Amino acid sequence: MVAHTTSTEPINVTLRVWRQAGPKSAGKFVEYKANNCNPNMSFLEMLDVVNEELTLKGEEPIAFAHDCREGICGTCSLMIDGKPHGPQKGVATCQTYMRSFQNGAVITVEPFRAAPFPVIKDLVTDRSAFDQIQQAGGFISVRTGAAPDANATPVPKEDADLAMDAASCIGCGACVAACKNASAMLFVSAKVSQFSLLPQGQPERDQRVLAMVAKMDELGFGNCTNQYECSAACPKLISHEFIARMNKDYLAASFRAAFKPKSNATAGGA
Ligand code: FES
Repeated sequence: MVAHTTSTEPINVTLRVWRQAGPKSAGKFVEYKANNCNPNMSFLEMLDVVNEELTLKGEEPIAFAHDCREGICGTCSLMIDGKPHGPQKGVATCQTYMRSFQNGAVITVEPFRAAPFPVIKDLVTDRSAFDQIQQAGGFISVRTGAAPDANATPVPKEDADLAMDAASCIGCGACVAACKNASAMLFVSAKVSQFSLLPQGQPERDQRVLAMVAKMDELGFGNCTNQYECSAACPKLISHEFIARMNKDYLAASFRAAFKPKSNATAGGA
């Protein structure tokens, strides 16, 4: 159950924040007070205020990643009280408000913990592993030219809706941080499915799923063992059913690759 206050009175909280000077430094928790927080301020705004006080005291501010602050970019990846993005379901850290916490709460704030996401500083992790998976095949390489007329390429409504659900993944990494195996399968399956459900994604469908899964494995992400913590932690509520969809695609693509006839043109014949 989510503890939260409905009062409009300012609240005081104690933060236990992971501080780590650099990737190779030892980290530790440091306690900070955040007093008189407006319950309607966001978690990141509360950190801004704490940082301002630290800066005025001549201390090093807490490093944390953020960009849009609108739940779109996926950079505000914090572990709050052991949960990726904190206590609320279906929201990113930047959409988590201080009213989600009780007055007097002690809140533990850590970076996402996963070997493929090394800590850069304090709460900032390097999640470029996700970019590498995307670069392995998470795109359509044909030239699209001018925008086609509406409905020129018919797409069943159910497929369009599912593709849209998959495309809502913001690549924040909460699925990896929530999984005991540090599996990236929810992320990869969303990125694979958003194309495999649409006609434009079909020509490169097999090579896309094979390449993205291979890159995911190469980068050290673990396997899915059906715990579903990934979809429970996802700020966009992406369903674990996309993992089953990707597994099916991967199996079919593997069979087709294994039995694909060799082309004479590339067989080295004169
Ligand atoms: S800052 Fe962009 S999703 Fe939170």
